[in-house]
Amino acid sequence: MKASEVRQKYLEFMKSKGHAQIAPAALVLENDPTTLFTGSGMQPLMPYLLGKKHDKGTRLTNSQPCLRLQDIDDIGDPRHSTVFEMLGNWSLGDYFKEEQIRNYFTFLTKEIGLKPEKIYVTCFIGSEKYGIPRDDEAASIWQKVFAEVGIEAEIAEIDTAENGDKRGIKPGERIFFYNDKENWWSRGGGIETTPIGDPCGPDSEVFYDFGEDKQDVEKYGQSHPASDGARFMEIGNQVFMQYRRKEDGTFEELEQKNVDFGSGLERVTAASIDSFDIFQISLLKPIIDKLTEISGKEYESNTSEMRIIADHLRGAYLLTAQGLVPSNKQQGYALRRIIRRAILKALNLGIEQNFLEEILPSIAENYKDLPDSILTNRDDVLNVLTKEEQAFRRTLNRGIKELGKLKEAGLTGKEIFMLQDTYGFPMELSVEEAYRENIKLSENWREEFNAALEEQRNRSKTASKGMFKGGLEDHGEMSTKYHTATHLLLAAIQKLIDPDSYQRGSNITSERMRLDFACDHKLEKEELQKLEDQVNEWIQADLPVQFAEYDKEYARNELKAHGSFWDKYPEKLTVYTIGDFDNPTSREVCGGPHVEHTGVLGHFKIQKEEASSAGVRRIKAILE
Ligand code: ALA
Repeated sequence: MKASEVRQKYLEFMKSKGHAQIAPAALVLENDPTTLFTGSGMQPLMPYLLGKKHDKGTRLTNSQPCLRLQDIDDIGDPRHSTVFEMLGNWSLGDYFKEEQIRNYFTFLTKEIGLKPEKIYVTCFIGSEKYGIPRDDEAASIWQKVFAEVGIEAEIAEIDTAENGDKRGIKPGERIFFYNDKENWWSRGGGIETTPIGDPCGPDSEVFYDFGEDKQDVEKYGQSHPASDGARFMEIGNQVFMQYRRKEDGTFEELEQKNVDFGSGLERVTAASIDSFDIFQISLLKPIIDKLTEISGKEYESNTSEMRIIADHLRGAYLLTAQGLVPSNKQQGYALRRIIRRAILKALNLGIEQNFLEEILPSIAENYKDLPDSILTNRDDVLNVLTKEEQAFRRTLNRGIKELGKLKEAGLTGKEIFMLQDTYGFPMELSVEEAYRENIKLSENWREEFNAALEEQRNRSKTASKGMFKGGLEDHGEMSTKYHTATHLLLAAIQKLIDPDSYQRGSNITSERMRLDFACDHKLEKEELQKLEDQVNEWIQADLPVQFAEYDKEYARNELKAHGSFWDKYPEKLTVYTIGDFDNPTSREVCGGPHVEHTGVLGHFKIQKEEASSAGVRRIKAILE
């Protein structure tokens, strides 16, 4: 079965059981202080689970695209993906355990055609500490439901996953009680970490059995539903949201007893084709196929890498198609990270050239049936992501070259920091690259890295207090600082004097800077003071300075970079951004070099303002 068929069957089935289909929420959240992405179907329904009336009634269903970055380290195994679709249905104080369990079992066995004997379930063992009983109610409903298809389902108490790894399961056992780590659901995880005020409750999870031979006993211990091994895969979670956590940490019963059900579309689809590997389903297989084609390598011997690349690029597609762009903060940074990681993993497969342009259409094709109202920016994806790929490849090449020079002696945290600080080559990538190339990492690299970071922060602070005078620096370094100061001064002029002003010329020595700029009047003393104060404020703020290469058109129209010679610039050019990437203090086309952080500039002082030519003023300034 294709994922799109499973999705449709599920929604139709739920509608036949009286559920109204509601639109999914955006994957990228704009104003939620608690989280950056939608991570489950219930998240947007929080107020309704707590009692607010929903205008579509008390039975709801949808298929919600979700992102769980916390799972990123698990990607590469057969069942995890950062982005997934969650099939969901909700009862807002309407039906409860029996109808939910019956419906889901019918859906799996009748609509999808799973064999009942392949289905195993878990329930909550109870919590003495919080006075929450063992969920015998759910367990006995399950027994009834199985009995109706001729299966005698025995109940066992496993409690912790560790017990399960030692004990395994015995013939006939099909319903298992576990503790709150496995069978309690809140947005915060287990019972102790349930957020105050949140709805929560015991859950009953449903697993598909791919067969004993899938269990790697040596690695994961005996097989049981909550094992990390590949025999059992969770394909659905029914949360009986009957509690709310109070201020004092205890739990009170909700007046309205809800059901919050979620099921990974990818996983049910995998079960429907009896594949323990979700990367074999219709939403992911075409990406894997394309990767084998481009790399000329086989999936069987490059499984983990190919899964990571396929997962991350599908995630990048869905995020970008919803209007997110890669940047250095929050959601944009998450996007940047997964793109970069995919590109790095592709290097392991020998894909050293740009390849997103080739892969993305095979992803887009799979999401044709998601409406434009969800994928609002689907037409921009190719452009945005291939630009990001080009920029990252340049960073990567520089970083890898530098890393190569250090490889003989092994890599210290200090060097990893230097690669990040000077070449923009991220720490995570140095570490991955070190593993990949068998470069020895010093034992305390993480501590060394943190120490170097701390040291640099302190240096910046000290320097910005003006305690190191110019004499200590060599000339190259001083001119670099003046270069950055020139950008800040122009940005200050545009902010405080005239937004349309532009650079007419500049001259930098190791002793001073000079900037000529378009301006129709002589600047007053107060104006000069304001400019000086503004530049110093930005220096004190220790803003990051970053650069990357872009296509001219993109730099001009998308990034709105400042430049005085657009007609003369080449097609590819470097843009320097000072401050926040999405809301920059200064952004100019420039060949550099510049400092990494404005904090090192010291104190900025204007020495002179004069006319240069008609309509052009000149400012000379120093750093002290
Ligand atoms: N909200 C539940 C989950 O995410 C269904 O597993």
